[in-house]
Amino acid sequence: MASSKGLGFAIAKRLANDRAEVVICGRNKMHLDKAVDDLQKIDGCAGDYGIVADLARRSDVDILLRHTFELLGSIDCLVVNSGHMPYGTLESLNDGDWDHSYETLLMSAVRVSRVASGSRCDEIFRSWGDIVYVSSAGVHEATGHLLLSKIMRSGIAVLAKHLADTLSGSGVRVNVVAPGYFDTGRVHKRIEALMVDEGLNRETAIERVAYINPLGRIGIADELAELVGFIVGDRARYLNGTTIVIDGGGSRLVM
Ligand SMILES: NC(=O)c1ccc[n+]([C@@H]2O[C@H](COP(=O)([O-])OP(=O)(O)OC[C@H]3O[C@@H](n4cnc5c(N)ncnc54)[C@H](OP(=O)(O)O)[C@@H]3O)[C@@H](O)[C@H]2O)c1
Repeated sequence: MASSKGLGFAIAKRLANDRAEVVICGRNKMHLDKAVDDLQKIDGCAGDYGIVADLARRSDVDILLRHTFELLGSIDCLVVNSGHMPYGTLESLNDGDWDHSYETLLMSAVRVSRVASGSRCDEIFRSWGDIVYVSSAGVHEATGHLLLSKIMRSGIAVLAKHLADTLSGSGVRVNVVAPGYFDTGRVHKRIEALMVDEGLNRETAIERVAYINPLGRIGIADELAELVGFIVGDRARYLNGTTIVIDGGGSRLVM
């Protein structure tokens, strides 16, 4: 889900590298077609598909799921990702921001999870598989301007843990990855905004974004994708119901 660009696309590429047939989605058809083209070049097969869908819309999520199962029959790995939520504080965010984030981030994850966990679970996963939610390292700290993201993603963390319990015995593992700052379009926009608003040069703006990270750099999307590739692989078969933070050590939490 949400995979024509950024982290979602990096994960799709990583899975295509393992010759998986991949279904990706996004709202912009042109970007989606280009992404599918790139995926087909990687795995050399025509078994990769793009479905135009806006995760904020229930009907689009239904279409996405239906077409995915029609195309693939069953699935091995479901990566639940989404777009960015608006920055803002309790004072600055309005009801529309809250409603949109609720539908796009939380309810899209709930709707997809409901299908994967219901009576069709065996049919969909054929007795083994993985669900991986893309969250955010910031969820663990109740500070900053990412209130919407943190609140909706706290719900997703509960959902993932619940699912890891309820799917026990079905062979499906459920995990969460929580990235810090990674080199995607949105983060570049943030760097450019800092350059304009605060008159910083690029280097200082990048340092500002990565300021609490002991490695002192922004992550590369392929590094997150590599983690997801590991999680869904056989070598991680005892990994279940957990959240892995990947942020260069930026989080101040001990565990
Ligand atoms: N990058 C980071 O540093 C970072 C850190 C922590 C958490 N995250 C989270 O990880 C997720 C992905 O971030 P990213 O940086 O990879 O974003 P990105 O580079 O902006 O890519 C987002 C992807 O999702 C699609 N998308 C966005 N909104 C959508 C919607 N409503 N329905 C369907 N597809 C949608 C976009 O395509 P269209 O625009 O064509 O729809 C695009 O393919 C976000 O939820 C973000 O909050 C990112």
